[in-house]
Amino acid sequence: MAGTFRRFRQSVQRVSPECLSIEARILYRQIMDNTTLTFIGGGNMAVSLIGGLIADGWDPRLITVSDRDQLQLDKLRQRFGIATNQDNQAAATGASIVLLAIKPQIVESVARELAELLSRQHSLVISIAAGIRTDALRNWIGAHAAIVRSMPNTPALVQSGATALYANAAVTAEQHDIAESILRAVGLTIWVEDESLMDAVTALSGSGPAYFFLFMEALQKAGCALGLPEQTARLLTLQTALGAAKMAIESTEDAATLRRRVTSPGGTTERAIQTFQQHNFDELVSQALEAAAARSRELAEQFGKQ
Ligand SMILES: NC(=O)c1ccc[n+]([C@@H]2O[C@H](COP(=O)([O-])OP(=O)(O)OC[C@H]3O[C@@H](n4cnc5c(N)ncnc54)[C@H](OP(=O)(O)O)[C@@H]3O)[C@@H](O)[C@H]2O)c1
Repeated sequence: MAGTFRRFRQSVQRVSPECLSIEARILYRQIMDNTTLTFIGGGNMAVSLIGGLIADGWDPRLITVSDRDQLQLDKLRQRFGIATNQDNQAAATGASIVLLAIKPQIVESVARELAELLSRQHSLVISIAAGIRTDALRNWIGAHAAIVRSMPNTPALVQSGATALYANAAVTAEQHDIAESILRAVGLTIWVEDESLMDAVTALSGSGPAYFFLFMEALQKAGCALGLPEQTARLLTLQTALGAAKMAIESTEDAATLRRRVTSPGGTTERAIQTFQQHNFDELVSQALEAAAARSRELAEQFGKQ
């Protein structure tokens, strides 16, 4: 168990080139210097990924973004010094990697638009679109397309995301590593071997930030109901959430042990926890995740029809 947590903490930390051996560092540089990356869609997720990549040492001149909105492209060019293009085909021409950062409902049209080019160039396609399966992408782009499907979450916007990745059989070992290094620029990355687990990932970490926000909202409201001023309840809630997450990440012990340690028999925490348990808190969370996973499967059927 301790080993698992050690590996988890190591993967939470970004791998910086300085941590690698000289040979690995040279290889890392060579790969980065020769990898051209095009984002299709320059919205929220693209902005956070580009920000993370540049902070990680990616050369902005190797990054291109295409978007329908010229104003947004101008902002991105000024902020990051990257290349921009309103034309998806032109933006993706010559790219080693094309990252689809567009809404799920338009992935099919964009994938079909770029299919011939991507097949000819043998580009790696990374999709961050929720619910779009690799089989659907292969069907739209080409049977031999190398595809990494990933599911980041909103804390990626503050470089604290959690991203699960799945690679199809056409993805090479080098493409696998590059895809991981791109997503690791905005937080933790974890590979799944079975694509069907992406629905569970979507239910847990994809939608997860909202669950914690919901709990924070409830804590804050309950604190106010007990007489705390709103701002005081807010600050205490936020710092408590941050502190608990930090303790859980830094500890080698699981959440249940940490909880038991701060729950003295006959104390105040025990009384609150008993109240949660009397109302089947675990069961409620489990039902919520099952509902989210079922919705993820429904969306995949809806947007991924081939
Ligand atoms: N945000 C998250 O937390 C999160 C988490 C996990 C996964 N994702 C996935 O990430 C993807 C992007 O999400 P987002 O929040 O970054 O969306 P977003 O902010 O709406 O960004 C998408 C951008 O793509 C542009 N666009 C639309 N059609 C286009 C086209 N044909 N060619 C090029 N660009 C086009 C959009 O322009 P218009 O605004 O003019 O349409 C918009 O600027 C989604 O598939 C989502 O499922 C997001």
